[in-house]
Amino acid sequence: MPLVTSKEMFAKAYNGGYAIGAFNVNNMEIVQAITEACSEEHAPVILQVSKGARAYANHTYLVKLVEAAVINCPDTPIVLHLDHGPDFETCKACIDGGFTSVMIDASSKPFEENIEITRKVVEYAHEHGVVVEAELGTLAGIEDEVKVAHGAESYTRPEEVEEFVSRTGCDSLAIAIGTSHGAYKFTAAQCTRNEEGILVPPPLRFDVLKEVEKRLPGFPIVLHGSSSVPQEYVKMINEHGGAMPDAVGIPESQLREAARSSVCKINIDSDLRLAMTGTIRKFFCEHPDKFDPREYLKPARANIKELVRHKLIDVLGCNGKA
Ligand code: G3H
Ligand code: 13P
Ligand code: ZN
Repeated sequence: MPLVTSKEMFAKAYNGGYAIGAFNVNNMEIVQAITEACSEEHAPVILQVSKGARAYANHTYLVKLVEAAVINCPDTPIVLHLDHGPDFETCKACIDGGFTSVMIDASSKPFEENIEITRKVVEYAHEHGVVVEAELGTLAGIEDEVKVAHGAESYTRPEEVEEFVSRTGCDSLAIAIGTSHGAYKFTAAQCTRNEEGILVPPPLRFDVLKEVEKRLPGFPIVLHGSSSVPQEYVKMINEHGGAMPDAVGIPESQLREAARSSVCKINIDSDLRLAMTGTIRKFFCEHPDKFDPREYLKPARANIKELVRHKLIDVLGCNGKA
């Protein structure tokens, strides 16, 4: 099937109590790993491309890689989505350039300005059959050049969501309930430590989510910054020359709970990066004489695929839904 929008996907996810995985893609191996896992598990998927990915790999290369995945996985519904579109021009370039979904992220702007920019993108996107994700509230962490310090993040204010959605016409809304971008989501001061000395982050604000849900019944909610930072891969990185102390993510049990609610899209990027980096570091330590990129990218791709499979089944609950 050709690329699809997330409209039908989200309606089914909302009613079915599961979420669609939105995974960031930057190169061929990542596209292959994600889409092969989704195809084998009969899961719909959102492949998302950030501004940084477009700068790194080039818009056309990424679109063509995704088109190749569409050919290879003919039964898998695939959305091609712009992640954190910074302005109207970037969103327009993606709408004109084959994407079926865009995010306009004006969440750092004042409320009225966020509405104005989002509405402009929505008008253009809808004229072209493309859906739009917008954001209210600010996550901590790093995305592209934007770094929001811990403590400077702000939870979404539920009392603003109805006005925002009705005035912008956006198709889904990313909210801030305590998730955070990157592999260092929380400072040690924000966490407690478990018996193994691993940081335990503060729980997500399900009270904020419930309040949003009450005010926007049936409306798809999105969670960014939802990597769980698998300690298995942090350990692999640290045991093979890396140094990632206190990298900690969102517990998968909390994401599973979110996926059962109005949350229809869960963004996962850092976990895949950790799997790739850990696997390649280990490979180089174990095979210092090897230099063929295919030899170290192959196990990295295989491990990303298994990690995606685990997310589909154990976190998102979207396996078997395609
Ligand atoms: O939220 C951002 C995503 O993880 C993409 O990261 O901007 O480094 O491509 P990036
Ligand atoms: P993570 O850094 O937690 O993987 O979040 C990814 C994300 O939100 C992409 O938009
Ligand atoms: Zn994000």
